[in-house]
Amino acid sequence: MKKTMPLPQRETISDHNSKLERLFEDELKDIYWAEKALVRALPKLLRNVTSDELYKVLEDNLTETEDHVVRLESVFRMLGKEPKTKKCEAMAGLIREADEIMSHTEVGPVRDAGIISAVQKVEHYEMASYGTLRTFASTLGLDRAVRLLQENLDEERAADNRLSELAMSAINFEAAER
Ligand SMILES: [Fe+2]
Repeated sequence: MKKTMPLPQRETISDHNSKLERLFEDELKDIYWAEKALVRALPKLLRNVTSDELYKVLEDNLTETEDHVVRLESVFRMLGKEPKTKKCEAMAGLIREADEIMSHTEVGPVRDAGIISAVQKVEHYEMASYGTLRTFASTLGLDRAVRLLQENLDEERAADNRLSELAMSAINFEAAER
């Protein structure tokens, strides 16, 4: 039988929802920081890519990331808040790791493979964040926010799938040949 977590004593539904809304807003600030950091980080990755297909995927990813920032700003406004960032240590770490890959590899297929791996880690972090945010928004009855967060989630998932295909094909094969 499915058990639900009991609410602490004397906590009303409206207390519970306002705490959940605060957590939702905190997580929103986190992913907003992360997306803005990615808009700054992706051009460096693009400059380091050799494969034309990978270049195209990352270029599309940059455009989509800019759209994600705009959708998040709309979600803040739906809550009646100004968009604010809170440093996302996880994303900062993932971007640092991408930089490390660049300093440990030479331009070419192996660096491309490393860039794919770094960006897929980013996508998975974002998918986890958007999945949670969408569920919170749905619990809070914020239907328009649910739709925007779902759009971001769908695009992250599609980008991840495109990167998986690339990793499976030429790039990793060529990387293994070196
Ligand atoms: Fe994104």
